[in-house]
Amino acid sequence: MKNGFLWGCATAANQMEGAVLEGGKQYSVSDALKGGMKGEYDLDVKCNNPTHTGVDFYRHYKEDIELFAQMGMKVFRMSIAWSRVFPTGVEERPNEEGLAFYDKVFDELEKYNIEPLVTICHYEMPLYLAKQYNGFTSRKVVDAFVKYAKVLFERYQKRVKYWVTFNEINVMLISPFCGGGIIELGEFPEQAVYQGIHNQLVASARAVEYAHQVNKEMLVGCMIASGPWYPLSCRPEDVFLTMHKNWNTYLFSDVQAKGSYPFHVWNEWEKKGIRIIMEEGDLEVLKHTVDFVGISYYQSRCASTDLAEQAKAKGNLFDACRNPYLKVSEWGWPIDPLGFRYTLNMLYDRYQKPIFVLETGLGARDTIAEDGKIHDDYRIAYLDAHIRAMEAAYEDGVDILGLTVWAPIDMVSFSTGEMAKRYGMIYVDKQDDGSGTYKRIKKDSYDWYRNVIRNNGLREE
Ligand code: BG6
Repeated sequence: MKNGFLWGCATAANQMEGAVLEGGKQYSVSDALKGGMKGEYDLDVKCNNPTHTGVDFYRHYKEDIELFAQMGMKVFRMSIAWSRVFPTGVEERPNEEGLAFYDKVFDELEKYNIEPLVTICHYEMPLYLAKQYNGFTSRKVVDAFVKYAKVLFERYQKRVKYWVTFNEINVMLISPFCGGGIIELGEFPEQAVYQGIHNQLVASARAVEYAHQVNKEMLVGCMIASGPWYPLSCRPEDVFLTMHKNWNTYLFSDVQAKGSYPFHVWNEWEKKGIRIIMEEGDLEVLKHTVDFVGISYYQSRCASTDLAEQAKAKGNLFDACRNPYLKVSEWGWPIDPLGFRYTLNMLYDRYQKPIFVLETGLGARDTIAEDGKIHDDYRIAYLDAHIRAMEAAYEDGVDILGLTVWAPIDMVSFSTGEMAKRYGMIYVDKQDDGSGTYKRIKKDSYDWYRNVIRNNGLREE
């Protein structure tokens, strides 16, 4: 890859920190999930969600960052828990104890010359804001987000160059609670969801505008859950449906990277009778576009208008049909490295802005072998194929800033709430039944990725 390519790994506060009510923190929306994105939530948080203890990065951050440094990581993607900084979201002043934790994390990263890349909101809206205002359906939450983002930009402008406003912002369409804290969808769910989407896009653009005012050196990106939709067959009906499916993803990055809504959105709102309440100046604010396009890439998906195929697809995260040409992971996610190269090319062609690959990785069950090690050759194979695909896209001419693999260390899975679905290159002894010592053990993929970083990639020069 090009000189200065940022090799690293990615994490999220809600899945790794634990210490859910410590240091003044209060609950966030992800702390209320009973087990994942499509799962139910419990607003009283009586559930024993494994994210409440995470992998205790809150106490292990020094040890973990030392391991990340030994791996040679150049960039560490992390998120700041909004509810650690503004526990309910409505406070006027931030919680110093919460910020002090991140000061210490940045100190540690600086010690090893690791560049932090910060996601401002990774499914971590304070639960109070969701309950009080119905999340992003309310402009009060836009203001609360901007207030929070301003605190981070001002305090960390000299320490953090790369920022992302919202993780996988397009998840709002499939999970308005995780993505936008929306609890009540009311009689016209699409109205509520698109109002939330508009408000969130305005919040993101206001944050970008402010970051650029505070310090032009700061680069702010969007982040979409990417992965192309393919037509399940070449029937024109399937192809046409696929166009719409892809538009649902691009809607977000179009606004964030190009600065305005695509034509088809206005059309769709009109046809469906959706009336978005906009404040004066909103469309101007949206012109504050991002500096780079961040993506997660795990899988491609297939669309079909055939009702029998649709029925078979029901239940998986995106209601996608099974692609007969692809193998799937243990959790049924199709493995498609060429789809990754395709995605990188499509997005670069569309936006002509540098791309930052902020997530890719394999969730799998790991076992400790008799020699006490974790031989995760399946994860190495997945990452090898995807890094090769990224390198091929780079040779196609796509400008890629860096790659942060999900994940350096095991964490609680977001979509299932399990520990058993592991992505890390460092194993954490924590099990779904609550047992475990939290001991860290390097997996084979850890040494493998260290070599990739050292050699600046896999391809022979
Ligand atoms: C992305 C999220 O969707 O995929 C992460 O940004 C998540 O938070 C990752 O953990 C892997 O998904 P999962 O659901 O298998 O943990």
